[in-house]
Amino acid sequence: MDDMKLEEWTNGAPPAEALDDWRVYELALRNPDTFPCIYVAGAPGCGKTYSALHVAPPKVVECVTLQQDMGPRDLFMQQSVEAGTSRWIDGPATRAMKAERSRLILNELPNASADVLSASYALLESSETSTFALPDGSTVTKGGALQIVVTGNQRIDTLDPIMRDALASRLTPALWLEGLPPEAVAWLPAIFRNVARSVAMAPGDARVDLRAWVQLMRIADAIDAGDVDMTFHDAARIAFGRNAASVIEALETEVD
Ligand SMILES: Nc1ncnc2c1ncn2[C@@H]1O[C@H](COP(=O)(O)OP(=O)(O)OP(=O)(O)O)[C@@H](O)[C@H]1O
Ligand SMILES: [Mg+2]
Repeated sequence: MDDMKLEEWTNGAPPAEALDDWRVYELALRNPDTFPCIYVAGAPGCGKTYSALHVAPPKVVECVTLQQDMGPRDLFMQQSVEAGTSRWIDGPATRAMKAERSRLILNELPNASADVLSASYALLESSETSTFALPDGSTVTKGGALQIVVTGNQRIDTLDPIMRDALASRLTPALWLEGLPPEAVAWLPAIFRNVARSVAMAPGDARVDLRAWVQLMRIADAIDAGDVDMTFHDAARIAFGRNAASVIEALETEVD
């Protein structure tokens, strides 16, 4: 950006509507070259992974949920056994690196083992190219057109300080998502929207995530199709579990 443009930009009037973190997340997903490595955290079921899978997906999208007992090999290469013989096949990180344009979603990276974490730090290096040695003796090079989306359930600043610093220096933006993604709200029938938004922000055990609404809609479709014979109250009891009474009350108030 030249000096004139920069001056115009920094003196420019503030946008009418400030960006909230959902909009920043979407913007980052749509602009992988500007935001090659991003961290996105929020309560379970708020829609982090779904957005990473569905917003402006490149041709190759790889998604892996990390667990303590996984090693770097699960990320880079996996052993496949066919007809009694085993051979190495590419793991999700390798497939993403080999593709021309790709997105690699690392769900729950903060829960990964120390070995996977250090392999991931190398993967998240912003240097133009990094080369990785694979267990079969070959190497793979990370090009520039890979976007990595790290998801977690904790704000980045509440992570263990060593991990926090390692991730914060490699991942921008580092977001905390509240409530529901605007597209998910729009997807819900209008009469559910206000209640869905409000119970998604409820504290502690009273919080109701999107999965419950997805379940409710699935049952509603089955009722409509005549496959399932139950009342709306029954469907809500099944979908919302321990929070059913309060959600039903809120929905009834909304309809009145
Ligand atoms: N924009 C959307 N439109 C419609 N449905 C959505 C949308 N976003 C999420 N959902 C629904 O909500 C469910 C939960 O979303 P998702 O798996 O992305 O949550 P998450 O934040 O990754 O949760 P966790 O922290 O448990 O991994 C999805 O399976 C999907 O059915
Ligand atoms: Mg997820």
